[in-house]
Amino acid sequence: MSTFQRQVTPLDRRTTEPLPNGGSIEYEEFPVTIDVTGCLLYSLFQNHWQEVELGHMVDGSVLELEFTQAPKICRLYDGYLTVVAEGWHMHLCLEENLGGPLCTTPVELRQKRLVSQAALYRRLNAQGQARSWGIQFWNGAGEKMMNLFLPNPFIGEQEDLLPENKPNLEKLGLYEQLRQIYVLGEQDIPFAENPLKQPYVSVCRSSRCNPSQNWQPTYEALKGAIADSDLNVEVINSGCLEVCKMGPVVFYSGDRTWYTRVTPDIARDIVQEHILEGHKLKKHLYPKEAG
Ligand code: FES
Repeated sequence: MSTFQRQVTPLDRRTTEPLPNGGSIEYEEFPVTIDVTGCLLYSLFQNHWQEVELGHMVDGSVLELEFTQAPKICRLYDGYLTVVAEGWHMHLCLEENLGGPLCTTPVELRQKRLVSQAALYRRLNAQGQARSWGIQFWNGAGEKMMNLFLPNPFIGEQEDLLPENKPNLEKLGLYEQLRQIYVLGEQDIPFAENPLKQPYVSVCRSSRCNPSQNWQPTYEALKGAIADSDLNVEVINSGCLEVCKMGPVVFYSGDRTWYTRVTPDIARDIVQEHILEGHKLKKHLYPKEAG
């Protein structure tokens, strides 16, 4: 049964980081559960991609990447959210990264990689006036990870600075809305379920496990079998699924299962026996179950 909660429980955690130039950054934290961070990021990348930029900002380095069209991929795999835009892509660790089918990521590294703190922020100048707005993420070692830049009312359409006394305050609407939903819990999350937790089944199309490039019939068989069922499961093909042998390799995100040597017939059995009836196909599991 789903435990998804549409209302965020506020953390009531506000901090201020002084800046060497006399300004400061005000942070208002929100929970880093996958249902909160997943919904927040999915909604930004799917519904507000024209308004946000992604990057990082540390002493000596600023990176700002914008979307020129909606991201082609926005998906969770082994803890990492992957977003693929035109010309660049990003990964952000929102859940424990176990390390593929063999769980090879050391426990300490799983904790270090994970987003462990997140906050909406406002950068203030030395006079205490807010001048930029965004979202900051920290990893398990307390290091700043990427941040998202939210619309800035002092910047015009051509990235030009507007006259100081003529900010376009409507541009603060997105920040205010996110604050209401994710920091204050005064509005519901705009999804009935976490969209990043919608199950999918993926076939590896990389050549290392598929020298004969024979993933397509498996992919087509999966698509057909899912279409013939009432299942709400997406069928995709993807890059490496960390098995790299005995292809075609298939991954089912619903319960984190990998299969090898998946012929079209086996693909149809996976849909019927595993996804519909709940019994894994032991002969094709990777790794094999002990015993
Ligand atoms: S190349 Fe297919 S699983 Fe790695």
